[in-house]
Amino acid sequence: MNKLNLSFCALALFFFGNASGQQAPKPNPALLKTINAEFKDAGRQYHVLMKNLPPDQFPKTFYPVTGKFEACKSDWWVSGFYPGTLLYLYQQTKDQGLYNEAERILKVLEKEKNNKTTHDLGFMMYCSFGLANQIKPKPAYKDILLTSAKSLASRFNPTVGCIESWDSKVPDFLVIIDNMMNLELLFWATRATGDSSYYKIAVTHANTTMKNHFRPDYSSYHVVDYNSQTGAVQKRRTDQGYADESAWARGQAWGLYGYTLMYRETRDKKYLDQANHIARFILDHPNLPKDKIPYWDFNAPGIPNALRDASAGAIIASALLELSKYNGKPAKQEYFTIAEQIIRRLSSVAYKAAPGTNGGFILMHGVGHMPKKSEIDVPLTYGDYYYIEALKRYKNYTN
Ligand code: GLY
Repeated sequence: MNKLNLSFCALALFFFGNASGQQAPKPNPALLKTINAEFKDAGRQYHVLMKNLPPDQFPKTFYPVTGKFEACKSDWWVSGFYPGTLLYLYQQTKDQGLYNEAERILKVLEKEKNNKTTHDLGFMMYCSFGLANQIKPKPAYKDILLTSAKSLASRFNPTVGCIESWDSKVPDFLVIIDNMMNLELLFWATRATGDSSYYKIAVTHANTTMKNHFRPDYSSYHVVDYNSQTGAVQKRRTDQGYADESAWARGQAWGLYGYTLMYRETRDKKYLDQANHIARFILDHPNLPKDKIPYWDFNAPGIPNALRDASAGAIIASALLELSKYNGKPAKQEYFTIAEQIIRRLSSVAYKAAPGTNGGFILMHGVGHMPKKSEIDVPLTYGDYYYIEALKRYKNYTN
């Protein structure tokens, strides 16, 4: 082929490739530059956060109006996000101070491996020790993760087919959609040991949740109350959402992320379909704002003046970047583009705190628990964690 023909072929490939939608999504070079700067800013901001922490406690939130910094003990569900964010930022910046702080706080967190009173061990131990073990594998981390997986598995009830979320009076057996996020720890345990019992518990929990937590439009209830002795559903309700029949935004985000990870771990197409259905519910919802940062509940009173939840936006962006990889066109491109849009918006002054402010947290404007009037329009440690994870997934995006 002569030079002219070759150029013609290259041009044709470019135009027809684009027109028929065959080109894979690619991270935008200018945004990648911003993201790299963003990691550095966030690392510096976490040095501010460190200084605000009471001894042996974990950051929860900060109240900008009163200037109150709120921390918690290691047994609160959010404890893993601080070490997790430090480790993600260390990976990106190689700032040894961030790694040292992560190691310090992991020692405080370790005892939770024996905590059998919570379903949140995936959040607490896998977002922290799981990541630490990926960065610098250590036998001690592996032991801690395995003990944590055993503690989590101890909450599984085979009659219900679920891991119990919140302890309650027999026969009530409460399961929340958030629990999908804890399954990652169980998949890790099967990979690490070859013992398939963890895998089976995770799959059974996901199947039961798929059957009972979702409405016909693929929105999810927050809480399903089962009968622990018969497995029957007794009640479906909310705790953190606006109403029993509403769609609490972070709950929808947990479901999206949860079924995406189920597909990653099992390659069972029914989980991919479920994740895609949840994505459609979120993305096609008439109450999803143009900038794609959801209101704290899709049915919140006062929309369009209701508060947004930046944490839900961050979780959705991170989940969509993974889900994009498992889909063909047009969903592949659409999910990628929307995740990119969310990242741009969260990285703007509308959501990203000015250096040294916000108690040292990265993002502003999350909603923790509206019905309890707690953590309203504030930074949230998990908002930061999933935001940084989304930036990393965007930076490393390959098909
Ligand atoms: N219950 C966990 C959350 O607030 O999303």
